[in-house]
Amino acid sequence: MSFDEIVRLGQQRGFFFKTAESYPNTPAGFLDYGPQGVSLKNRLVELWRRVVVRRDGMLEIDGAQILPRAVFEASGHLSSFTDPFVKCAKCGSVFRPDKLVEEKTGKGVAEKLSDADYDQLMERSGVKCLKCGSRLAGTTRFNMMFKLGIGPSQEEAYLRPETCQSIFVDFPLLFKTQRAKLPVGIAQVGRSFRNEIAPRQALIRLRELNQAEVEVFFNPNKADDKRFDGALERALAFRLPDGTDAKLTVAEAKGRGLVPNKLAGHYLALIAGFYEDAGIRPEDIRFRVLAEEDRAFYSRAAFDLEVKLSWGWVELVACNYRGDYDLGGHARVSGSNFTVDDEGEKVLPHVFELSLGIDRSVFAVMESSMQGEGERRVMALRPYLSPTQVCVFPLVNKDGLQEAARGVFEELRESFEAFYDESGGIGRRYARADEAGVPACVTLDYDSLKDGTVTLRDRDTRAQERVSVAALKERLASLTRLPPIGKRAPGR
Ligand code: GLY
Repeated sequence: MSFDEIVRLGQQRGFFFKTAESYPNTPAGFLDYGPQGVSLKNRLVELWRRVVVRRDGMLEIDGAQILPRAVFEASGHLSSFTDPFVKCAKCGSVFRPDKLVEEKTGKGVAEKLSDADYDQLMERSGVKCLKCGSRLAGTTRFNMMFKLGIGPSQEEAYLRPETCQSIFVDFPLLFKTQRAKLPVGIAQVGRSFRNEIAPRQALIRLRELNQAEVEVFFNPNKADDKRFDGALERALAFRLPDGTDAKLTVAEAKGRGLVPNKLAGHYLALIAGFYEDAGIRPEDIRFRVLAEEDRAFYSRAAFDLEVKLSWGWVELVACNYRGDYDLGGHARVSGSNFTVDDEGEKVLPHVFELSLGIDRSVFAVMESSMQGEGERRVMALRPYLSPTQVCVFPLVNKDGLQEAARGVFEELRESFEAFYDESGGIGRRYARADEAGVPACVTLDYDSLKDGTVTLRDRDTRAQERVSVAALKERLASLTRLPPIGKRAPGR
């Protein structure tokens, strides 16, 4: 399914919409979730909590979205969270020079070039203004944070560009009040804001985005602790900076110096497992190892978890070894103490981060679940992610079948996300449910009126069986149950 098709399907079935669609001049990069999308997003986050956060006994916080200037001075975002841009001297259109060159040449451009380098690259590649065809030059920088003024005095503050800064700032307090011990993961789900220069795939590169971040604080002298040995034999796919692919166990990747320590390997394996449990095929998951010039300013080793979709590999999680960059910065600017005690040793912890883009992940899970062509399309979501868990239909709309079906629907909706549908032929109703990812449909027919049984239809196999209404709830409960904490989901 193409990117445009998945966007259309998302709109038709109430998953997501472009923000303020009725106003044609609304800037790109904003997204509203409809009821189906809210439910899928919430279920995906709940799966993440089970597979990642609660498995390792992490702490979860919910910090403010607006933070004072000093936080971003310490984090380096004021000076370094910038993208290059170039403005056409003739028509005023604004572009990212790196993206223009990539599109023209089909080759990637490193992230950390100087403004003059970008000008030279554009000249050499023959890049011109996409609107008026003029020569482009004069690359400069744009800070992507949204600036705010608090109160009448307009005290300088910013919408956070990543959720994790409050995790770093709150770390000493959390460590103390929660009586935590290293290593400890602190997680947060929430909105972040990035004033992207020209978001092209607007629903993938959002200006207001949902993140699920985990920052694991650890003693750098204990990053190769035995407790992380469990993942050593796990094989992961890597895309290396030279453009080659390698399937390596965590132990091999560490041996080759790709993965900095066992702790990082453990978390790479864990996050790959999360996407497998979300229904992404293992062969469609890889870690892109970022070269120094492609890493974010706070990162000393970085891996982008990418998933293969019909329109290419898409980054879903930034996995960064941030070292003591953040705690060191906050200690310096705030003057507070960020060191903690680790079994008698005073340490400024290091951080390994899993920064997950929720919106992209929702997209990826939907797209990679799509099966079938043309008329018959099935969104084969893992049943525990499906926004609607069961549809209830009367076979025909007469002879008391509607009333009986409504009765079953009312009973099911006490425990499940259920939907009642009596419009159109039964085949059309099944097709609509399949396309919306509903794992089970229940149909009442004349036999139902006699013996209290219903037809239970499985979305993926289309197999139908007769079950009693009494047995139905248990069947649906086991079908849609999330995997227990720390346990991998059974395959479908
Ligand atoms: N915290 C890292 C990121 O937002 O990419």
